[in-house]
Amino acid sequence: MSNYHIKHLEEYYQVYRKSIREPENFWEEVAEEHFMWRKKWDKVLSWDFSKPEVKWFEGAKLNITENCIDRHLTTRGDKTAILFEPNSPEEPAEHITYNDLYKRVNTFANVLKSKGVTKGDRVCIYLPMIPELAISVLACARIGAIHSVVFAGFSSSALAARINDSDCKMVITSDGSYRGAKTIDLKGIVDDALEDCSGVESVLVTKRIHSEINMKEGRDFWLQPLLDEASDECKAEIMDAEDPLFILYTSGSTGKPKGMVHTTAGYMVYSAYTFKNVFQYREEDVYWCTADIGWITGHSYIVYGPLANGATSVMFEGVPSYPDFGRFWEIVEKHKVTQFYTAPTAIRALAKEGVGYLEKYDLSSVKVLGTVGEPINEEAWHWYDDNVGKKKAPIVDTWWQTETGGIMITPIPFVTPTKPTYATLPFIGIQPALMDENGQEIKGNQVDGRLCIKFPWPSMARTIWGNHQRYKDTYFSAYENKYFTGDGALRDEVGYYRITGRVDDVIIVSGHNLGTAPIEDAINEHPAVSESAIVGFPHDIKGNALYGYVTLKETGESRDQNNLRKEINQVITEQIGPIAKLDKIQFTSGLPKTRSGKIMRRILRKIASKDTSNLGDTSTLLNPEVVQDIIDNAL
Ligand code: PRX
Repeated sequence: MSNYHIKHLEEYYQVYRKSIREPENFWEEVAEEHFMWRKKWDKVLSWDFSKPEVKWFEGAKLNITENCIDRHLTTRGDKTAILFEPNSPEEPAEHITYNDLYKRVNTFANVLKSKGVTKGDRVCIYLPMIPELAISVLACARIGAIHSVVFAGFSSSALAARINDSDCKMVITSDGSYRGAKTIDLKGIVDDALEDCSGVESVLVTKRIHSEINMKEGRDFWLQPLLDEASDECKAEIMDAEDPLFILYTSGSTGKPKGMVHTTAGYMVYSAYTFKNVFQYREEDVYWCTADIGWITGHSYIVYGPLANGATSVMFEGVPSYPDFGRFWEIVEKHKVTQFYTAPTAIRALAKEGVGYLEKYDLSSVKVLGTVGEPINEEAWHWYDDNVGKKKAPIVDTWWQTETGGIMITPIPFVTPTKPTYATLPFIGIQPALMDENGQEIKGNQVDGRLCIKFPWPSMARTIWGNHQRYKDTYFSAYENKYFTGDGALRDEVGYYRITGRVDDVIIVSGHNLGTAPIEDAINEHPAVSESAIVGFPHDIKGNALYGYVTLKETGESRDQNNLRKEINQVITEQIGPIAKLDKIQFTSGLPKTRSGKIMRRILRKIASKDTSNLGDTSTLLNPEVVQDIIDNAL
């Protein structure tokens, strides 16, 4: 019997030890007992981090949608699979049962086929948080097409770059989207993007806001009439364990986004197993993750993990502040949510509004609280614990990444004693290591270092789409034979981990991963800009905010600075999206550089954080004089 559901701390340690000593036996048992296979594997695991190459359940055949939908129909056909809560509280919630989901996914899958999409094709999904988003993801998986969901807050340029990088032949979108009191012209953004995407043959458009939009003859098709004509039975494509399931882009240290490739069997097993344990999910629960399906959290813990367990997963279209700051709690009360999973930035934003909004609602259904995406500060942790969980619902601070596919370091609720700001212990099967600057593993407790993982886990990304070398360079070159996460961490006296933040050029703003390079590239496109450098600085709600140091070409120096700041943020919004806008822009006469021409971000970071007492050695700089100038004019 596999230990599919861990219920106490002794059991955790026992299962953890087994998963480390005999990883193949352990994962084989989990896979064998809890999933539906068309054919079992020939080999559980083969791996070589020097290539790097990782294969789980090689030789197995399956379709993930049979695991997420078909196999539940006999026992859970009338159970709600997706509980859709619209942007406006006036609009009724929609309960999509497993039977409904089966029909809607199959019908959609037939539409994809009718438009020529076949196994291995890439389909870009650019949709708001409406049921069609989850359904189109599953429809792609049904026929073996590789979905690439792009968060619908990205700009047309960012969308175009992602469509082109993976050669998507279809885009699925909507006429527009609701965001609180606003509407957004999504189709207009897609039209702009497609000016630069010659490979896209068709665009499926679903109606959400019923706005007037342009439909390009021969390319754009309304979804509904196609669904009306399609059959609601579509045979699942039989996939190999290591066939790609999806691509999801994340920021990196160059301007080009990295298309992380996740494959089928390992991802399914790990997302399902973590979901069951990290949320202590039980059959009657109503689980709600507030993330967007445009991020990995939504892929693994709104769609695949919950549905593989036959769960009810709430999908919320709106924002926490609309129509007021009580919206989350209204939804918790209305649907009697049992597990609530959100980001620290949302907690901080809600805490700022006071407890008045919370007190109006009955939150007694909540059993488990979760956070993800960035470190949670002590104050926010206690606010969440005191006011939302009423000190009865354990908080799972879950550390993981787009690249890891599933939760890696986390408490298991009612099992692992929690500690504010600590993600606590590695999940089953995960072998973390802290490394020093010389590439040596730091053993023992009460230490800190760079966080690596030294053994493969089933849901790790297998490559970067179209660029395996970059995958190797980014994750497997810093430390021999280890996956490097890009994060720093400490391990306390009992072995609990606390993530201290990124140690590379990625900044986490409101839980969103932003690379400095793409933002700098965008700014540098402004005709008045000569050069720029972006750093993060602490922000009460966002965790980090962005501070830009910008040097101007001569032509720009006479311009009104406030206008220039607006224009620079406008360029960023166009190139990337509003999430990457800068909070502060300082115009400088130069940027501090090493003799080899590298910008010294360490110094800029300190100045942005108003910590100029110890800037370290600046004598090795090519242009030490600019440092004082920057300090004198800091914002
Ligand atoms: O720095 C870590 C931070 O988010 C990064 C991964 O971002 P992304 O790929 O967008 O995935 C976010 C959702 C899984 C990590 O490298 N991070 C994520 N969770 C935590 C965290 N930092 C601290 N504590 C966490 N719980």
